[in-house]
Amino acid sequence: MLRNPEGIDVLQPRLSWLVNTAIPGVEQTAYQILVASTKEKLNANEADLWDSGKVTGNQSINVVYKGEKMSSRKEAYWKVKIWINKGETLWSETNHWSMGILTYAEWKSTRWIGYEKLSKDDSVSQYSRLSARYLRKEIDLKKQVKSAKVYIMGMGLYELYINGNKIGDQVLAPVPTDYTKNVKYNVFDVTSQLKEGKNMLGTILGNGRFFAMRQDYKPYKIKSFGFPKMALQLYVDYTDGTSETIRTDESWKLTTDGPILANNEYDGEEYDARKEMKGWATTNFDDKNWVNARYVQEPGGFYEAQMTPNMKIMGEVKPISIKATPRGTYILDMGQNMVGWLQLKVKGKSGDQITMKFAESLQDDGSLYIANLRDAKTTDIYTLKGEGEEIWEPRFVFHGFRFVEISGFPGKPTLDNFVGKVVYDDIKTTGTFESSDATMNQIFKNAWWGISGNYKGMPIDCPQRNERQPWLGDRTTGAYGESFLFDNQTLYAKWLDDIKYSQTQDGGLPDVAPAFWRYYGDNVTWPGTYITVGDMLYQQFGDAEVIKKQYPSMKKWMTYMEENYLQNDLMDKDKYGDWCVPPESLELIRSKDPARLTDGQLLSSAFYYQLLNIMKKFAVIAKEESDIAHYDDLATRIKKAFNAKYLNTATNSYANNTVTANVLPLAFGMVPENLVDKVFQNMVHEVEVTKNGHISTGVIGTQFLMRTLTNFGRGDLAYKLASNKTYPSWGYMVENGATTIWELWNGNTADPSMNSQNHVMLLGDLMIWYFENMAGIKSNPETPGFKQIIMKPDFNAGLTYVNASYESVHGLIKSHWKKDKKGLEWSITIPANTTALVYLPTADSKKITVNKSKLEKAGIESKTEDKQQVLKLYSGEYTIKIN
Ligand code: BGC
Repeated sequence: MLRNPEGIDVLQPRLSWLVNTAIPGVEQTAYQILVASTKEKLNANEADLWDSGKVTGNQSINVVYKGEKMSSRKEAYWKVKIWINKGETLWSETNHWSMGILTYAEWKSTRWIGYEKLSKDDSVSQYSRLSARYLRKEIDLKKQVKSAKVYIMGMGLYELYINGNKIGDQVLAPVPTDYTKNVKYNVFDVTSQLKEGKNMLGTILGNGRFFAMRQDYKPYKIKSFGFPKMALQLYVDYTDGTSETIRTDESWKLTTDGPILANNEYDGEEYDARKEMKGWATTNFDDKNWVNARYVQEPGGFYEAQMTPNMKIMGEVKPISIKATPRGTYILDMGQNMVGWLQLKVKGKSGDQITMKFAESLQDDGSLYIANLRDAKTTDIYTLKGEGEEIWEPRFVFHGFRFVEISGFPGKPTLDNFVGKVVYDDIKTTGTFESSDATMNQIFKNAWWGISGNYKGMPIDCPQRNERQPWLGDRTTGAYGESFLFDNQTLYAKWLDDIKYSQTQDGGLPDVAPAFWRYYGDNVTWPGTYITVGDMLYQQFGDAEVIKKQYPSMKKWMTYMEENYLQNDLMDKDKYGDWCVPPESLELIRSKDPARLTDGQLLSSAFYYQLLNIMKKFAVIAKEESDIAHYDDLATRIKKAFNAKYLNTATNSYANNTVTANVLPLAFGMVPENLVDKVFQNMVHEVEVTKNGHISTGVIGTQFLMRTLTNFGRGDLAYKLASNKTYPSWGYMVENGATTIWELWNGNTADPSMNSQNHVMLLGDLMIWYFENMAGIKSNPETPGFKQIIMKPDFNAGLTYVNASYESVHGLIKSHWKKDKKGLEWSITIPANTTALVYLPTADSKKITVNKSKLEKAGIESKTEDKQQVLKLYSGEYTIKIN
């Protein structure tokens, strides 16, 4: 959990470690944590903050700090010693965290500053233009600096410089929030940037989500927070033991007359290099044309340490082709629908102007397809200064694009003039997947690009059109699948805070959070994501604290929905239906065909039922067991009313017999036991025969489709859906050139008005199925965070091999299996301090060898279950063969 952040504001942070050893069969038997206020003390084992003592047990993640009360800006150095069952003790390396600013009083004399006027080329309109704010402040440090830290809140987006050097490698920072509710500060150790004597602090402020782009458009719906502004504190400790704090005030100088003429997330950035102010962030600069910054009102939200990483340039893409058009422009093809921006390298005359327009695909005539961007202009404009080679990239925008139309380029551009910069949250890719099916492999790659690109300090729906909103319903189950590919724990923990902050006084939750768009419709399926994502964090990362923290607000919403909308034991509150089912005609966005649509009351009742079951589990974690009886009672009543209304016992089907209407009660355990098989067979018939082995579900049904088919015994049908290339399927997207996942199954033919080519919601439970059902990497629900791994691939679904890996919070898990005429060979890596239940597709233990010895002689616990041998394995590497 703790990743050495500079400045955290949790008083009892959680400490986690990886047991890293080549010794096989390792379990931790005890641990001892030492925390000290200095490195020297820790080295001498002088734990002045906390000595946990020797604690028996195998817990190695999320150990709650229980030492001295931490105060503002305190440093903590820690290490852990563990005892293992192999008779050894291991010491960790030294780790570190520092506390943030814990009281508002410590910010009190720091004032927010800015400039709340439009400059001459600015405008407030549907396409608002606002120039970036440049701020600078000279400081004189009289003594030798021992250490220094800067705490910055730069809204909407900031770049920070000291003596001309950019601080940190973050971009588009900080993460967006509803600034009236909470404001994130970032912290940097800047000791090495400062020197005795004169130093210069500089910042550039961009709009981000703060100065909202569509200022005069639906102001009742779209939130805006005003002009960019900032507050900063720099704490300097001198070697003589004294210290000093530098704060934002009216002595800071400001100009809006810099090279960034306009910056707007939807429309693009305009930069005039002729207006560059050389040395503006150094002491050698004449700022006589700058004005004094003005005191401005604070945004209103709580000040909080940012516990999730900022965005960063995470990779580069080299374009694959550049073609001249009859219009005298050029079309650049990145070869990949990506999110970020384009870096430009150019030589030309002062005043030459290059325009770059971004789009996801091309029309038949080779020109950009921009109709699906709606009114987002997605255009960057660079004006040259004419001083040799100029290299430029924007700062305060991102684009979702594969193609760029370049106009005004001096001379003939080549591929070498451009590099794509891939921008998303600075989080690790944790999962790999490769199989014998090329379509599935390409879908996996597309999913990686789509998921990463839409991580923007919050999970957004799409990166290209005039929307880019954190819609809850797009991630209900998706977040869980994504957690296999990315270490998204802190991102989603932050998002749950965003959702909590967006809750109305009476308990309602919006469909978009932070509620940059105000959509409070009291729906079930979208807001329910608050609870399902909590469940994901618990299940995948073993994070119980997040549940304890969010439980009261989750309960409040559940109660609010029950009290306002439960009628005759059914929940009648649905807004979007089974969003984006394959429609009756290829041009349509939304189906109007009643046979394809699933009853809204059925959807909201089934979802609410499922959420009640999750809440029962959460009540135990949050030590609110007394709530369980009510959840139980409600669930029982809903199930009864649900079956009474929707289950047709003559046909063994639900409602109008869409796949979604059947898959939800099957997945949620709502079907009367004696009919489960029949309802399942009916659903299989719908998928296999009526729909000819194709998808017919939308955002809701697809969340449960792949796992339900497989868990009830038809992994082969799930595999057919995953490997299909014909419409509608994920493979159809691939066949039609997609390099990400589309918003619509018919994305290549549908109306452009809602048709993004980079939306992740249609992934449903596909990524979960890849890892849990095909690779066999699943966390045992009884032991969250992969403390015990359930390895139970469906070897008969149709794949002949899978090579997958997943870096869990307990360490690296690998599953490589291949099947041929001779049998099955399966290589497994199990991390230290975990166990795995490994399911082998034979009851005959004589056919099994483990690391070349016969199973009987290998000294491994095993049992037979449903004609399978189940082995209990401890950490290490195993090669299992079955003949
Ligand atoms: C968004 C979706 C969202 C939906 C809900 C769309 O415009 O892009 O992803 O969930 O609206 O209405």
